Amino acid sequence: MRPLIVANWKMNTNLSEALILANGVKKAVADLSGLDVVLCPPSLWLVPISEQYGHHQIKHLFLGAQNLFWAPSGAYTGEISATMLTGLVDYAIIGHSERRRLFHETDAEITKKVLLALDAGLKPILCVGELKKPSADLIASPEELNHSQIRQPLEELENVLSHLSSKQREQLIVAYEPVWAISGHGVKTEAAGGHYANQVAKLIKDEAGIDIPVLYGGSVKGDNAGQFLSQENINGLLVGGASLKVNEFSSILKSAV
Ligand code: PGA
Repeated sequence: MRPLIVANWKMNTNLSEALILANGVKKAVADLSGLDVVLCPPSLWLVPISEQYGHHQIKHLFLGAQNLFWAPSGAYTGEISATMLTGLVDYAIIGHSERRRLFHETDAEITKKVLLALDAGLKPILCVGELKKPSADLIASPEELNHSQIRQPLEELENVLSHLSSKQREQLIVAYEPVWAISGHGVKTEAAGGHYANQVAKLIKDEAGIDIPVLYGGSVKGDNAGQFLSQENINGLLVGGASLKVNEFSSILKSAV
């Protein structure tokens, strides 16, 4: 499996910053091979960025949406459907913890979004993760970790998987993002340990019953990316804050090759 590195810009950048950043990422990706990179800017910047990339698109650089809506079309002011994204993006982040917590998205809505994304030919990146930081002992000795200690991400996954056919399961990408490790909400965060994340990724693959790609996300930076990418069960990264700085993001990309 080629490593997959996803940049989630969240609600950051104005148009000119977005174009400069997208160009910087393109240059960094052009120098590398053996990995896939997905850029998820704010949805308003998808069209200008894809126009800027134009016909000189790099094969292993893709665009993704940060979200989409759970109905195919209709009277849903302000929302963006999966079919509107078709042709513009290849991937869609679904069920990010910020959407779950700040916008009260439920597993039922998230399941609908995954199904609509699949119908529209998009690859869903389903985010799951526990809210509460486990004990330092468990993080330090994750071999002990079992289903009952890490229920939340596994239940979030199972609640979606139970509605998917085996063919649809094969299209799913899971991003394991412990909520306590995600930066940007005024609390100082630190990434989960590589071994701990690897053990959760293993439980996720067991739950899925197939070798589903599992990304790690939460305070990934240039100096810790390798710690996750070297793990057997981790197939890539979902990067928030550090994807807004070209140099930092390039150093993450270099760890993947
Ligand atoms: P972070 O965000 O890298 O800033 O912690 C990751 C994410 O929320 O996807």
